[in-house]
Amino acid sequence: MSIQTELQSTIEDMVQKGKGILAADESNPTIAKRFKPIGVESTEESRRSWRNLLLGTEGLGDYISAVILFEETLAQKADDGLPLPKLAQNNGIVPGIKVDKGTIPLVNSEGDLITQGLDGLAERLKTYKEQGARFAKWREVYPVGQHNPKPLAVEANAEVLARYAAICQSVGIVPIVEPEVLIDGDHTIERCFDVIERVQLAVYRALQRYHVTLEHTILKPSMVTPGKDCSDKASPHEVAEWTVRVLRRSVPAAVPSINFLSGGQTDEEATANLNAMNLMFPGQPWELSFSYGRALQHAALHTWQGRQENRGSSQAVLLKRARLNGAARDGRYSAEMEA
Ligand code: 13P
Repeated sequence: MSIQTELQSTIEDMVQKGKGILAADESNPTIAKRFKPIGVESTEESRRSWRNLLLGTEGLGDYISAVILFEETLAQKADDGLPLPKLAQNNGIVPGIKVDKGTIPLVNSEGDLITQGLDGLAERLKTYKEQGARFAKWREVYPVGQHNPKPLAVEANAEVLARYAAICQSVGIVPIVEPEVLIDGDHTIERCFDVIERVQLAVYRALQRYHVTLEHTILKPSMVTPGKDCSDKASPHEVAEWTVRVLRRSVPAAVPSINFLSGGQTDEEATANLNAMNLMFPGQPWELSFSYGRALQHAALHTWQGRQENRGSSQAVLLKRARLNGAARDGRYSAEMEA
């Protein structure tokens, strides 16, 4: 199979009507933060057990086409000894892998960040592929401040995302490109729009410069929302208008799918906002879908509490959340469906 054919077939498996992506790729410090409120200690075994629960949810593949895993999970096994990526695959879910190594401050651009992990990436990807990964994810992070992100950060982060994406495609791995504009702060929705527009225009200029085949990429952006501490809240209607506008200005039609991160929105907000976009603006050049971490796992995690006896009820909660987001993929979600 040629690399182009391989990338195309992975995209077709990942981008499906009524389905989105589950982000279960929390790094060890992040998953420890998620486990803390439910009193579960983060150990190799507790992390395995949680991810086994997620991937073993019967019927999850009806709403979830792909899952992003953390490196450790790729090598872990289900209770019955089946490798976890294989369990996902058996459930009709394409396994993928987060490949970045997190952020550090961007020198000479105070308040801005840059993501590490490019050195040796092609070799790592070959190993991940042998373990079953067919796509990858890389996240650049942009805090919003009065002077951030600065032009240097916008350019440098775009450059890194493009280098990552080109390397992935060279070894037949589909890159998810994630420029996350953070929700933290008291900025307005207009300010969020401006930042995302600048960030995404730079990302697509860089992807083009690096000859990345856009048809074989997925964008994982933030929605356009006011900062978490902004006193003006935005309705799903407003979020949808601003978000679709920024996407139309900055994302080429060649990109097959846009899968939003939830970024600290509540479960219901993330679903309602996605639903509003698909309801109000059908027929966009790209699919408008989800790649949620917290907004898919939060309620299920709190039902689980680390207890074996809660496993079934936790899976039911996860399945419901996935189904509601699946409905939001074509504007069929309503708040009554939460009951
Ligand atoms: P959230 O949906 O919790 O923001 O996580 C998505 C993700 O993968 C962030 O990198």
